[in-house]
Amino acid sequence: MKILVLGSGAREHAIVTSLLSEEADHRIVVAPGNAGIAAEAAVEPGLDPLDGEAVTEYAIENGIELVVIGPEAPLVAGVADPLRTRGIPVFGPGKVAAQLEGSKTFAKRIMDAAGVPTGRAVRASTLAEAESALDTFGAPYVVKADGLAAGKGVLVTSDREAAVAHATHWLGHGGVLIEEFLDGQEVSLFLVSDGHNVLPLSPAQDYKRLLDGDGGPNTGGMGAYSPLPWLPENFVDEVIDTVALPTVRQLAKEQTPFIGLLYCGLIMTSRGIRVIEFNARFGDPETQVVLPRLVTPLSSLLFAAATGALAGVPRPEFALDTAVTVVLASEGYPEAPQTGRPITGLDEAARVPEVTIAHAATARDEETGALLATGGRVLSVVARGTTFAEARARAYEAVALIELPGSHFRTDIAARVAD
Ligand code: AMP
Ligand code: GLY
Repeated sequence: MKILVLGSGAREHAIVTSLLSEEADHRIVVAPGNAGIAAEAAVEPGLDPLDGEAVTEYAIENGIELVVIGPEAPLVAGVADPLRTRGIPVFGPGKVAAQLEGSKTFAKRIMDAAGVPTGRAVRASTLAEAESALDTFGAPYVVKADGLAAGKGVLVTSDREAAVAHATHWLGHGGVLIEEFLDGQEVSLFLVSDGHNVLPLSPAQDYKRLLDGDGGPNTGGMGAYSPLPWLPENFVDEVIDTVALPTVRQLAKEQTPFIGLLYCGLIMTSRGIRVIEFNARFGDPETQVVLPRLVTPLSSLLFAAATGALAGVPRPEFALDTAVTVVLASEGYPEAPQTGRPITGLDEAARVPEVTIAHAATARDEETGALLATGGRVLSVVARGTTFAEARARAYEAVALIELPGSHFRTDIAARVAD
């Protein structure tokens, strides 16, 4: 199949690696891609993934049979819509359904209408409303930017002044939600949706905070592991029945079917499962630990979803081993990442058994050919193992072989399941 993947991160690298691992002769092109992706697939650095008309023209001219939209920005910008209008199968929701991720207010309205369990929340339009909601819910305070914020929109704190400062900032940038604090283990569950039916992938856990022991600010994600051996047996079915299907049905009822990846960000509270957020695309870094264990061909799932043909497709199968990913970040990430620095040692790291390296933000220096870091999260080092202890040891052995001046990573990824 001729597949166009939009995006340039480790998630897209993992998607490409998974598609290339199939016993099929796919021709894959990625726009814009990165240095790691370019080593495996064709890239189109000049094609702007945010320009729906340009992407559609490209897809038509090049006989693309499936477009996979990786990141949230093109989804929220509505890039899927012109593709769908022209009859090109596209994995990714249109502009309205992508509001499930793009607007927390929209997501709360859909959840209310569908009876999906989530935290109580108040949308504040003035500081007075925000402060009153903070006092109603009490500490710890949860303050959320309403729109896309690249993982930086949520503050969970017991410091009322910090909560007020965060609310003040985001009130000036699109609006703020104050939410009740939910206590419990977090789970990321991805479901492939064709607008009516859903199929679950293997659950994963993300490490959102910057520092060991869940300290420091929220980030885009510093590591992940999958599967989750501590989940109750009926967890996935419960999420399908109480969260995913009601949400997908509500969107279908509103004539805006959700075709793509429904990312359910969940907390298992003592009162049951609660949704903390939806995303409209594969999560990063969870994708890097979910897709390597997928046995069912990824392209068959994405194509069936894109063409409305998921009914009757069996649940995707996963290998029974474990996967762990550790994210290597640039100095200064997340506030002010230092970029342009050289990365070495990748070949040695990739030789550690069962290790693959997904590039998140890399480019080749045109003159010297050196590999350079171009963003905050630079690499996602992925390892598989029979046990979590084995996968974790391999991931950290590989990370230790990589040199990027000033870089940092968490040392406790998957520690809680590796005993
Ligand atoms: P989000 O961007 O919505 O995924 O939120 C980022 C992180 O903030 C989540 O992964 C949680 O760790 C935390 N968080 C979000 N909402 C809540 C909540 N209502 N209660 C507790 N923690 C939350
Ligand atoms: N891992 C969190 C996200 O992709 O939003």
